[in-house]
Amino acid sequence: MALRIRAGPFTVVSHVLGVVAAIMVLVWCIHFRGGLAFEATNKSLIFNIHPVLLLIGFIILGGEAIISYKALPWRKEVKKLIHLILHAIALILGIVGIYAAFKFHNESGIPNLYSLHSWIGIGVISLYGIQWIFGFVVFFYPGGSATVRADSLPWHALFGLFVYVLALGTAALGFLEKLTFLQNSGLDKYGSEAFLVNFTAIVTVLFGTFIVLSAVSPNHVVDDFSYSSI
Ligand code: HEM
Ligand code: HEM
Repeated sequence: MALRIRAGPFTVVSHVLGVVAAIMVLVWCIHFRGGLAFEATNKSLIFNIHPVLLLIGFIILGGEAIISYKALPWRKEVKKLIHLILHAIALILGIVGIYAAFKFHNESGIPNLYSLHSWIGIGVISLYGIQWIFGFVVFFYPGGSATVRADSLPWHALFGLFVYVLALGTAALGFLEKLTFLQNSGLDKYGSEAFLVNFTAIVTVLFGTFIVLSAVSPNHVVDDFSYSSI
């Protein structure tokens, strides 16, 4: 599965959208929602860590990890190491961010794992962990034979993109759920905060779109149309 358009420009758009989404979620959680804290009497500050780490840590760093083969100029081996390390950081920050949501629930007397968002979220983080371990074992250490590597690569790319798209959907559900909670407790439905949250979700989905476009496009396009008839 490869488009006949160079990935380069798609990766540039991805970086820009990633920076915009990161700023938007920080403005929301810090300016509108009062800030971030692991220990606090105001338990909402513990929750705020969740969207920040899941968006910036898991979705944005995970997306940058996926496009490292397309966005970076170095040797394949270097890019492989960056791919592996960025995915590991994304996974760890994702787990810490989910822990923050559990901590917020436990300290506020709210039940855990009652929503579709949380169920798919647990599925996503588990599949991501499995994908990382498989990737590590097959492509890095101890590493499969040349045949095993070649045979598993399309599955690795396909499954990786599938899990990533599922993560984008989970984040959209999370934004929807939190904004609905806030609107039900009095937040202006058409106020600036509501717009900020919905637009953050839209920028996130656009970011993911350009990550997928970068992944399915080649580094170089070979021109084999030179003889084509009109
Ligand atoms: C791919 C990214 C995400 C994953 C994997 C994820 C996963 C989870 C999980 C597993 C829980 C359950 C915690 C518990 O039961 O104690 C949860 C809770 C929650 N998350 Fe996320 N989350 C993600 C992104 C987001 C984002 C961006 C928001 C936006 C605000 C959000 C909002 C919420 C809310 C409001 C809850 C508490 C209510 C509930 O349990 O559904 N999440 N998340
Ligand atoms: C959850 C973690 C991971 C995800 C979501 C993931 C996802 C992906 C995706 C979507 C691609 C296709 C990229 C493209 O075609 O431009 C890819 C390629 C690749 N990944 Fe991963 N990956 C993960 C972890 C790993 C790990 C730990 C390794 C170990 C070294 C690894 C090694 C590779 C290799 C060698 C390629 C092929 C690059 C190429 O030649 O085009 N991945 N990965």
